[in-house]
Formats: sequence, structure tokens, C-alpha cells
Amino acid sequence: MSATVLCRLDDIPDGGARGLELPDGTPVVAVRRGAAVHVYLDRCPHTGVTLAWRPDDFLTPEGDLIRCATHDARFRIEDGLCVAGPCAGDALEPVPVVVRGGCVLLAEGDGA
Ligand code: FES
Repeated sequence: MSATVLCRLDDIPDGGARGLELPDGTPVVAVRRGAAVHVYLDRCPHTGVTLAWRPDDFLTPEGDLIRCATHDARFRIEDGLCVAGPCAGDALEPVPVVVRGGCVLLAEGDGA
């Protein structure tokens, strides 16, 4: 069983975010805080659209929240919870990852 590499840790700017794709082409957003990386499906729970209008432009200007460009929903980086906007109380769908050896790996699901 080999882990699937999503990207290298250094591919994501520290304090920033990057748009990536799962092996099946599903778009995701990866947000880095030092050695920690949070990954979510790039799909707003409000209408299902992708979050950013410009490549890798997923964060608020302050860099403290993920935002949806369409109606300005704001999501916590650590758990994806929507804290402001039309889908407040909903959450981005997390993609479990582990950071190992300078790489961001998809965490193997149960039974894999
Ligand atoms: S589509 Fe994201 S806030 Fe409306």
C-alpha cells in the first residue's frame, strides 16, 4: 500500500493557499500554516461552485479565513466551518492528509 502524494509541502506558500487536484481530478484547496496543512474540497456548501475566481486566491486579505468569491462566505482554516455568509453553520468538506517527509500525503481511508 503506497500513500498518494498530493503535493510537496513547499508547493504551498507558508500562510497561503493553493488549488490542487485529487488523483481523480476533483479540485481541492490546501492551506498551509507552517508544517500543518488543511485540505478541503474546492466546493462552496452554499451553491456547490468552486471557491476562487483567480488561481490560488482562496484566503481573505488578512489570510485568516478561507473565502468564497461568489457571495463572500468565510470559512475557518482549521475545520472549514462557515462563520459568515449565506451558508453560515455549514462547512467545507475536509480531505484527510498527513505531512511526512516534506510531502502532503492523502490519508488512507478506512479499509484501504
Ligand atoms: S456560492 Fe459560495 S457563498 Fe454563495
